[in-house]
Amino acid sequence: MAISNETINEIKTRADILEVVGDFVDLKKAGSSYRGLSPFTNEKTPSFYVSPSKEIYKCFSSGKGGDAISFIMELEGINYIEALKFLANKYGIEVEEEEQTDEQIQAQNERESLFIILNFAKDYFAETLLEHDEGKSIGLSYFKERGFSEETIRKFDLGYSLDTWDGFMKAAEKKGFKREIMEKAGLILASENKTYDRFRGRVMFPIHNVAGKAIAFGARILTNNKKQPKYINSPETEVYHKSNIVYGIHQAKQEIRNADMCYLVEGYTDVISMHQSGVHNVVSSSGTSLTKEQIQLIGRYTKNITVLYDGDNAGIKASFRGIDLILEHDLDVKAVVFPEGEDPDSFSRTMSSEAFVDYLKENAKDFITFKTNVLTDGGKKVDPASKVQVIRDVIASIALIPDGIKRSVYIQSCAHQLDIEEQVLLSELNKLLITKQQKENQQRFRENEPPEAANYPPEAVQEEVKETHYTSYYVERQTLRMLVNYGGEPFDEETSIAEFILDETEEIKFKDEMVRKVIEQSSALLARGEKINPDEFIGPHDPVMSQLVIDLLELNYFISSGWQERHRIGTPHEKDDLAEAVFKVVLRLKRKKLEELTSETEEALKNSTNPQEQDELIKIYIHYKRLFDEVGKQLGIVVAK
Ligand code: UTP
Ligand code: MN
Repeated sequence: MAISNETINEIKTRADILEVVGDFVDLKKAGSSYRGLSPFTNEKTPSFYVSPSKEIYKCFSSGKGGDAISFIMELEGINYIEALKFLANKYGIEVEEEEQTDEQIQAQNERESLFIILNFAKDYFAETLLEHDEGKSIGLSYFKERGFSEETIRKFDLGYSLDTWDGFMKAAEKKGFKREIMEKAGLILASENKTYDRFRGRVMFPIHNVAGKAIAFGARILTNNKKQPKYINSPETEVYHKSNIVYGIHQAKQEIRNADMCYLVEGYTDVISMHQSGVHNVVSSSGTSLTKEQIQLIGRYTKNITVLYDGDNAGIKASFRGIDLILEHDLDVKAVVFPEGEDPDSFSRTMSSEAFVDYLKENAKDFITFKTNVLTDGGKKVDPASKVQVIRDVIASIALIPDGIKRSVYIQSCAHQLDIEEQVLLSELNKLLITKQQKENQQRFRENEPPEAANYPPEAVQEEVKETHYTSYYVERQTLRMLVNYGGEPFDEETSIAEFILDETEEIKFKDEMVRKVIEQSSALLARGEKINPDEFIGPHDPVMSQLVIDLLELNYFISSGWQERHRIGTPHEKDDLAEAVFKVVLRLKRKKLEELTSETEEALKNSTNPQEQDELIKIYIHYKRLFDEVGKQLGIVVAK
């Protein structure tokens, strides 16, 4: 349902950013703003700011920023409407819903109907397990035999599907559900001459989304029939994308946040058994290899994952990719290996909860120790060749970590553990980093995407490489960043930074429409004799512009008094010599634009058939090319011939 404009306005007026953020972040006053530890990263030094007067937040460690609504969206991983409802609920505002267009209704209805039928199915299977004779004698006794308590069975909404062709279908039809929607939900299968239940004679494990709605099922066989798959799972549907969800997230999310750590296991039954052993911060990737989306989903609740493995070396090696993927997404990863032949489910049942929890704590190894152990077969392989292989492998993982400080901590630990000089490891790491950065930039360059603003460019990369890979989008945004943050400050004795930028870029065509809009608005402000400051662009009058400027905000916006945190401000050292920094940014912009003009002229020249026009174009080309090289020289770039 759409929420009425009146309700949205009421929510926006009532939602106080300090209160909303304050529920999740411990905020302390810092000048005109408030400061705390980012809820999005596990930083140790607070770089998360709230400006109560502008009603915005900005997190300098993740780069995220916005208003109270986008904060809730980001933190809870929910969409705009859900965030509005969340806030309405917090402030006791009654949500007035509004008429939608037919298309909206249809799309909405389809998803809603899928949720309705899937949740009907969940209840039906659960009832069959607990009430029906076949369910009780076959399904329930199976679960009991595995040691699942009634409480556990209810907590995970476990169920049973009758061993008939149409047990579910009949029950659903009686309730008025159409076969079409049952099929779309993946609950029944339809062939030319037959329509029948997908799940038959199996125990049912509902898969819930974060909000706790059933979106799919895993169904386990109860016999030893080797011809049948052990699990039958729901297919991909409109509401179920296997790679975007982890099993157990709904039951685990609160505890993951509390413990600031998430255990990752392989199977449904591992999750359930661990819950029963008192470990509630656990999810499963359900037998598939871990995906980026699954890591990001867990990453909303914690930046620490501990992967649990059964003790089979081949399987563990195959899972190294998952560990790398976690590191790549800036999460920390540990690993616990169980004794040969035991998985979390079986192992947890051999001991008391306390002993199991202790085992997990005592056996959690950081990924370096873990990888080293696996690769050297528990320290058995000590020959030089194996050692070289181990070092390469571990460094390759470290190179994936985006955070430079974390990388150097791991390098230190690696040097210590493998007894190698840190310097050797560092130079190996740098080689990998440079190659990686070059590859990434080429990729971004091809896709005309900006280089990573926050980490870009890493010190390891040489100047020439950087310059050739700036994209138009990037240089435009950098120019705008300087303009909105520092526009009011002096460039020299007579000109402000805003005046300098606007003068210098007068003839430049900005590609990005929103960048153009801010530039135009700035010109108008200057013409009226007003100063440029970010507040001019932030606010409800233009949410898109507002978001762009929030993305570009620098720390000085939040700490109005003093520069005690100078060392943490924006791009390192740029505040030390603002004029120099602005000058460079403008040169980069010009260089990029000249590069574009040069290649456009070249293109025109290729297509031109008129000799007179060709002469003219050649002159223009040479002119641009000369300017391009000149700007390059000013930037200190060696011109390639
Ligand atoms: P397991 O074979 O370890 O299953 O597969 P399990 O959950 O531990 O079940 P028990 O303890 O033997 O009863 C791990 C996960 O791989 C997926 C399921 O998600 C399972 O939980 N899987 C496995 C399938 O999807 N299909 C299969 O045929 C087998
Ligand atoms: Mn198992």
